[in-house]
This record gives sequence, C-alpha cells and structure tokens, in this order.
Amino acid sequence: MRDGSFTASFPVLEATAYLNAGTCGPTPQASTDAMVAQLQAGLEHGRAATYYQGLMALQVTAREAWGRLLRAPVEELALTNGTTDGIARALALVPWRDGDEVVISDEEHPGVTGPAGALIRREGVAVRTAPLEELASAVTPRTRLVVVSQVSWLSGRVLDVAALAEAGVPIVLDGAQSTAAISVDLGELRKLGVVAFAGSGQKWACGPVGTGVLWVDPAWAPDRGVGIWPSYENLEDPGSGLDAKAWPDARRWDSTSLPAELLAGSVASLQVLEAAGWDEVLSAGPARAAAFAEELRGIGVEVLPRGESTLVSWRPADAEAAVAEGLERGIVIRNFPGLPWLRASIGAWTTDEHVERLLELARATA
Ligand SMILES: Cc1ncc(COP(=O)(O)O)c(C=O)c1O
Repeated sequence: MRDGSFTASFPVLEATAYLNAGTCGPTPQASTDAMVAQLQAGLEHGRAATYYQGLMALQVTAREAWGRLLRAPVEELALTNGTTDGIARALALVPWRDGDEVVISDEEHPGVTGPAGALIRREGVAVRTAPLEELASAVTPRTRLVVVSQVSWLSGRVLDVAALAEAGVPIVLDGAQSTAAISVDLGELRKLGVVAFAGSGQKWACGPVGTGVLWVDPAWAPDRGVGIWPSYENLEDPGSGLDAKAWPDARRWDSTSLPAELLAGSVASLQVLEAAGWDEVLSAGPARAAAFAEELRGIGVEVLPRGESTLVSWRPADAEAAVAEGLERGIVIRNFPGLPWLRASIGAWTTDEHVERLLELARATA
C-alpha cells in the first residue's frame, strides 16, 4: 500500500491533503465510473426489467461486500441510506412501553440525538445522557436500550463495548466512524449484547452519499414487523396488497428505493478497499492517525483524548480560521460549530506528505 498505487485510486488525493473521511471519504475513480456507467445504461436502454435485475444483483453484491467487512451473514444485513437511517430503523423495531428509558452518551452526533429526540416526542420515551465512561452506571431497570457511537465523531474515542456489556442492556451501535475505519466483528459484538449496528457508506467506505448498512440481531428482533413503512422491496409478495408479508431476512429493513446508481458506486468503492486488503486498510488508518496525534503532542498541541481510531482532534488558536488556512494550503479538515477543536480524518490512503502538510498547518495555527 506504501507504493502509492492505492492512494492513486482516489483522484482528489493527487493535489489535496483530503482528510475529511469522517464526513465523506475520498471517492475512488472506479466508484464514479461505475455510477456513470449505470446512469448511462439507464439513459440508453431505459429502466425496465433489465435495470431492475441489475439493481437486484447489486443488492446481493453490496450485502456480500458489507458482510465480509463487518463479519456478518448477508441475511442479517439491510442496505440503508446511512447511519442515521439505520439507527432510526433499529429504534422503530422496539415495542416501546410507558416508562421506557434510553441511555445515550454526551458525545453523540445528531445521527443518534435526532432519532432519540423523536422517540421522546413520539413514544414518550425518556432519554438519559451520560459521559461515555459512565454509560453503564446510567442504566436503570427501565432502560430498554443504550444507543451510542462506537467511535466518537468529536474526539475519536473508542467505546469499551465489553465494559458497557456489564450493564446487561441491549446496545445499539452508531458505527458511522467505525465502519471501514477500524476492525468491526459483528459476531463478537453480538456476544457482548450489541443488537443493532448502523454504518455509513459515504465515510470510511468511500462510497456515495445516501448509502449505508444496518445489522440487526435476528434473535433480538425475531418477528418485529417491518420497522419503518415497508415498500415494494421489503415485501416477499408485494402483489398481495394489504396481506403482503415482509421478507423473513434483513431485506425487510432495507431503505426505500435505493437507486442502482448509488449501489453501483458503493460496491465499486468497497471493492477498491477490499482489493487493498481489509486487514491492511483497517490497521494502516488507525496507525497513521496515532502517529500523527503523537507528532501533534510533540509540538505542544492539545490533542483531545482519543482511542485507536482514525480521527484526531486538537485545539488550534482559532478553529474556523485554521480550516480556512488549510484550504489555502490544499488541506481539507473540519471544525465543529461552536467548539474549539479541529478534526483530521486519517485513512489508509493518507500519505506521509499529507501528514507533513497537516503538521505544518498545526504549527502555523497553534
Ligand atoms: C458518529 C456519527 N453518527 C452519525 C453520523 C451521520 O451519518 P449519516 O450521514 O450516514 O447518517 C455521523 C456523520 O458525521 C457521525 O459522525
């Protein structure tokens, strides 16, 4: 991977130190080519039976690719629009009762706080917020679920799932910053009480916006209907009208009308990463991020406490000004509105030269 051919798969990296995969990953050329080819086929041949057969084949390929990455059987994987969509779909599977509580951490993205806020208003569920390391002690006999990010989008801290498992409450994981960024084994997480896991396709998996994956433990949701409003593709016998039954597998939870164009791009991106070797991709990113964090500390910069993830956040003199200065220097990183931190997303594709450029920026804006 050090030979640069992997990095060359992502045209944006040629001129730009693009360090923003925590928002949207760099796009491989192959992904855009696959989307264009799909669009072109629709343009030239129309979108009838062949188009839909192609769509169904892509659904199979996408599920298989996610399954290899996340170590889960394809029957347990739903294709979604992203992490937030997956979290909402998982929460919709719970038959909420009066007095139920959900516990979340105080580092959650709107991908969790949005659906959790809706639970309060729609279902009368109480949502309790606790610091990441105190989640287990925030659990009460009324807690139905803990909903929490596996990797914090703010700091890059990694949840200690085993410690949280001690609380004995089902866990729903927001995998936006762990999917295709760090090693995730859903078989192992399931043993720790994780009942659902939602990930994004557009971040570390480098696919198009509007793609994602949801895993649901079939033992937790054995026959919990079809979640959010079912559509044609969720139903085994859509011709049966009101009596139509949902697919017995996770297709029942697929998002509505995921287009073939997006799925083609998503699959192509996953293939580029898989061809580089998931073990290599999932170890190189965190290793490079750790090395960068160490160098930042070495120049006296305050780095937010983090874990073995691909995110590094630190405090510059003025975060907004530092983002603008970065753009001048061909560096893409982000800040958080109202917070003093800058965040860099360091992937397996990040080169030494990009890290050097970033360090210079950190020095100049300290
Ligand atoms: C922790 C976390 N959760 C959820 C999301 C939202 O992801 P999506 O756009 O795929 O719903 C993000 C995106 O930044 C995130 O960082």
